[in-house]
Amino acid sequence: MSRIEGAFTYNTSAQITAVGSYLPEKVLSNADLEKMVETTDEWIVQRTGISERRIAADKEFTSDLCFAAVRNMAEEYQVELGDVDYIIVATTTPDTFFPQMAARVQAEFGIAHCGAVDVQAACAGFAAALQLAGGLIATGMHRKILVIGAEALSKITDYTDRTTCILFGDGAGAVLVEAGSPEEAPSWLSSIALTDGAEGHHLYRSSLAPNIGDMALEQNGFIVQNGRAVYRWAISRVPEGIRQFMKQAGITAEDVDWLVPHNPNMRILEAVCERTGIPLEKTVSTLAYTGNTSAASIPIALHQAVRDGRIRSGQLLMLYGFGGGLSQAGLLLRWAL
Ligand SMILES: CC(C)(COP(=O)(O)OP(=O)(O)OC[C@H]1O[C@@H](n2cnc3c(N)ncnc32)[C@H](O)[C@@H]1OP(=O)(O)O)[C@@H](O)C(=O)NCCC(=O)NCCS
Repeated sequence: MSRIEGAFTYNTSAQITAVGSYLPEKVLSNADLEKMVETTDEWIVQRTGISERRIAADKEFTSDLCFAAVRNMAEEYQVELGDVDYIIVATTTPDTFFPQMAARVQAEFGIAHCGAVDVQAACAGFAAALQLAGGLIATGMHRKILVIGAEALSKITDYTDRTTCILFGDGAGAVLVEAGSPEEAPSWLSSIALTDGAEGHHLYRSSLAPNIGDMALEQNGFIVQNGRAVYRWAISRVPEGIRQFMKQAGITAEDVDWLVPHNPNMRILEAVCERTGIPLEKTVSTLAYTGNTSAASIPIALHQAVRDGRIRSGQLLMLYGFGGGLSQAGLLLRWAL
């Protein structure tokens, strides 16, 4: 496999060797939402592209979604988990702030010697966690890292707020990132991380502090967003970020076989594609049946496209997360599975 000129900000042998996912059984359709708030299926589909989303059961939490995604991955790829040496879980909806979800995963699978951390970067979380995994492998400190994106967003969604509750769903995805041999063609090609922290108050869930800077927060425990502001940011700063990333990596839109982006809303994805030159047909979206699953959306989409044969070994993939923060995290991979 030839290297892409100038593409390498990474020097790591990391590669994804297995992928899995899990969606909870319960379906929340647009018709169900019509009975809960003043909305219509037509309005939701037209504004978001979402028809239904999966919702965790009352006693099902993010840790359960993590376990199910890892089990799915281990069964599908027949992988051994006993020698995993690090676990990273990207989530904004941990069952408990501590113990962290990664420690729950370690206990569930009886992994003997491993580090365990949660990463909190909202919808950019999974791509950020993969960047960290690539870095840990590059240092030689770790060789087999389990990276999970999981969310039970229904637990923090206000089902009386019609502009927000139509968007979100639950789910989880997991990948195994392993050190390859130096002779193999590199899989991790390039990465980018961008943050507009001054815009963070447009999308938040309050915690300990009553405000961000001078701005008082609604402290209802739910996702709060200024939909229009987030939308404007997503269709301007995200395409800018992707264009910057392609330039930095020395590639053009034509080189990208698949864009696997965070899936917030179809209109946002259409605008991102139009403004970056990456065709919508080369974009993996599960929005219609998952809604926005934040940190879980990239691994769920990745697993779907690998399973149905769209993503194949040797293709160039751009994984691109963006959202709360407001942050962006991108990774360019030569798919090696
Ligand atoms: C939330 C979002 C779909 C709303 O779409 P929009 O076109 O911006 O809608 P607006 O907020 O301008 O509202 C337009 C009208 O529709 C109404 N409306 C809002 N939600 C509605 C719903 N579910 N059903 C019917 N009408 C609705 C509004 O009340 C408003 O009515 P008005 O004109 O009488 O005041 C859109 O702003 C969006 O996608 N934002 C990004 C959110 C996001 O993706 N967040 C996560 C990022 S990771």
